[in-house]
Amino acid sequence: MKKICLALAILLAVLSLTVCQRQQSGSAAAGGQQSAAATTAEASLIGLAMPETTVLRWVKDGASLKAEAEKRGYRAEVQFGNGDQVLQNQQIGNLLTQGAKLLVVGQLNDGVASAVADAARDNVAVIAYDRIIQNSADYDYYITFNNFKVGQLQGQGIEAGLNLSAATAASPKYITLFAGSPTDGNAFFFYDGAMSILNPYVQSGVLKVVGPYPETSKDTANFQRIATEGWLPNIAKTRMENLLSGDARSVTLDAVLAPNDTLARAIIEAVSADAKYTSKLPVVSGQDAEAASLAMIKNGQQYMTVFKDTGKLAEAAIILADQILKGVTDPTVPGAILASSIGLESIGDTGRKVVKAYLLDPVNITQANWRDPITAGFITPEEVTANNLQ
Ligand code: BGC
Repeated sequence: MKKICLALAILLAVLSLTVCQRQQSGSAAAGGQQSAAATTAEASLIGLAMPETTVLRWVKDGASLKAEAEKRGYRAEVQFGNGDQVLQNQQIGNLLTQGAKLLVVGQLNDGVASAVADAARDNVAVIAYDRIIQNSADYDYYITFNNFKVGQLQGQGIEAGLNLSAATAASPKYITLFAGSPTDGNAFFFYDGAMSILNPYVQSGVLKVVGPYPETSKDTANFQRIATEGWLPNIAKTRMENLLSGDARSVTLDAVLAPNDTLARAIIEAVSADAKYTSKLPVVSGQDAEAASLAMIKNGQQYMTVFKDTGKLAEAAIILADQILKGVTDPTVPGAILASSIGLESIGDTGRKVVKAYLLDPVNITQANWRDPITAGFITPEEVTANNLQ
């Protein structure tokens, strides 16, 4: 009996030890998984390389991207390239040295391709942010707005502002054309979108172009003449001043196609200094829903802008980043559509491959709805006060 009791006791002890070990190894495995997840979700570094701070949106983009990444448990570091691709490449190099697991890059020009190649060599995924990274086959994802539609909204704004559908060739309207930086693929889409609306009016003679007229961005020589290198406002202002004293001297301009708000305000500043326009400014388009331009829309000095909620773009980019880092092969981004689903694959064409392009929807803003970007929380209370947008 004693022997049986001893055997049972040993058996029980072995069994409980085994159960105990199982439990321990089970929880160790679960703990292991948790800590692996924690390392991926909590400790991985996402590098955020933004192009510059001259155009305010990039400051907001940087802050939103960092906040969205941190909200999802990542570490995040944001760098601004100050309009200098060499500097941005150094910043990307530093982010890689720090062990960044993924990069979100708003590029300056295609000189960024070598930094993207370095990332690929280190197995670090890159998301092209807002601007496509051209001449590179070293990345797979691009997230942006529907940039052709941005241009269409600008063209439609001018069409409405000039009431072009009622205009006649006997009494034509006069427009001059500006484009963004030729180093930025978006500038071509904005321009082509706008001209897809305006060209028919030029062809029927109701709209006359003052200065160079590239029918599309493919007319490289003329596109270069209307382009604004680096999106710099002083370049646009000087070009507008030269037009006023040159090509536009003998006419009164009814409209100016301006590709973004920073340039629109520089153009309006030049036009306002010309006595011919003191009582009536031309219809000027814009983009970015900057607070200073919303104030001018409210006051009737700028006709329209395009609201691209960069807070939503940043959130979408980090949702995409999170899936890439978790190894999801076919990431989906709520609120964004794939360019390929609407026949706009070319938006993702780098010249070396076609990357997956996710598009968000831009919104038209005029005097009728200038408060919308404020209601959406895109404009801060400080900006509301500073720009008299109450
Ligand atoms: C962006 C615009 C911006 C411009 C100048 C473009 O790539 O899409 O929102 O106004 O760059 O920074």
